[in-house]
This record gives sequence, structure tokens and C-alpha cells, in this order.
Amino acid sequence: MSNVNADRMVQDDWWPKPVPPNVHFGAGFYCESAQIFRHFRSGDPRALVLGEHVSCYSGCSFALGERGTCSVGDFSLLNGAIIMAEERVEIGSHCLISWNVGIADSDFHPLAAAERRMDAEALAPFFQNRPPRPALRVAPVVIGDNVWIGMGALILKGVTIGENSVVAAGAVVTKPVPRNVVVGGNPAVVIKEIRA
Ligand SMILES: CC(C)(COP(=O)(O)OP(=O)(O)OC[C@H]1O[C@@H](n2cnc3c(N)ncnc32)[C@H](O)[C@@H]1OP(=O)(O)O)[C@@H](O)C(=O)NCCC(=O)NCCS
Repeated sequence: MSNVNADRMVQDDWWPKPVPPNVHFGAGFYCESAQIFRHFRSGDPRALVLGEHVSCYSGCSFALGERGTCSVGDFSLLNGAIIMAEERVEIGSHCLISWNVGIADSDFHPLAAAERRMDAEALAPFFQNRPPRPALRVAPVVIGDNVWIGMGALILKGVTIGENSVVAAGAVVTKPVPRNVVVGGNPAVVIKEIRA
């Protein structure tokens, strides 16, 4: 059972487009609106793989780049997260991901000043001499099972989060998080350990 019809349109949706064909989902998938795929550009045949009983509410956005992929495990709930994947973002099962959470596997622009100027020109749609975009640095993000990410947290490139851990509201996570801990702050540090 799912509220996505056989023609991949979401039931009673105001958004006029279907769920993209390279989004695979298990039984019990709940999608509040297919507008969560408004920034979905991936051409990978298995770009997004959602497990069973995954729930995605309309504040979410799967902003997958041309080669980006993402997976979400069974019973995970995404309330209003933006997933930005140039390469790979993995989310485990039974995860709870709150409002205004950002998860990104790249910084999307180079740090070096000259390269950044070039990138700005490369991204101007009507500029006649658009240069090629400089290469992006990417590092996959891996979020373990049963992780809870609070409101407004940011999970940056290369981060891994161990199972059962909690990211406090507003945290900026830049380093690996072990399992069974609460992290918070900017940059996020371990606040306390939690019972398994
Ligand atoms: C992570 C969280 C659940 C922990 O709650 P808790 O166990 O009751 O934590 P406490 O209030 O006992 O705080 C423990 C310590 O962490 C600090 N802390 C708590 N939340 C913090 C945060 N968001 N950022 C930084 N530090 C935080 C507290 O100041 C306290 O520090 P101290 O020991 O120096 O006094 C809670 O802080 C949180 O972020 N809640 C928001 C959850 C959310 O986003 N829900 C939306 C629906 S999914």
C-alpha cells in the first residue's frame, strides 16, 4: 500500500508531475507531495531507493545532481529535510529527520577565489562565454540506523553518524559522530551518551 498511484502520481496532489521513474520505493511509502522532487536531476537508474514504510512530508527536497544517488532505510521519516547529493547520501532505517535539516555531500563551490569567480560565471545561464564549472569536491554522507536529527541541523560532506545517535537542534556537524551519543553546537561536539 502507498499513496502513490500506479501512474506514479501522488493521490490528491497539487503538484502536476509524477514521482520520477528512477525513484524506487517499498510498500507503505507515504509521499505528501511529488514536489519534493522539484530539484531532482539525477539520471542514475536507481537514483533514489526508499525502503518500506518511508514517510516524506512536503517540506523535503531530494536535490540530487546529475549523478547523485540516495538511499533511505525502512520506517525512516523525513519531515522537512533537504538532501543535496552530487554523489551519495545514505540514510539508515528508523531515522527521524526534522524540519529545515540540510544534508549535503559537497560544498558545491570551490574555496579558491579565482575558481569561485569562474564558477559564478559558469552558473550564469545567459552569459555567452560561460566557462566550464571547476570540479566539485564530494564526500559521501552516511547516517546510521535509528538516528534522530533535530530541527535546523546541518550535516556536511563526509560525515558519518553512528546508529542510535541524536543530532540536537541547530547543530552543524562537520566530523564523524559515534554511535549512541547526542551531539550539538557549531561545530557539533558530543553533549552526552545515550542508552542503546
Ligand atoms: C537533543 C535534545 C533532544 C536533547 O534533549 P535533552 O536530553 O533534554 O538535553 P538537555 O536539555 O538535558 O541538555 C543537555 C545539555 O546539552 C545542551 N543542549 C541541549 N540542546 C542543545 C542544542 N540544540 N545545541 C547545543 N547544546 C544543546 C544543554 O544546554 C545542556 O548543556 P549542559 O549540560 O552544559 O547544561 C534536545 O536538546 C533537542 O535538540 N531538541 C530538539 C528536538 C527537535 O528538533 N525536535 C523536532 C521534532 S523531530
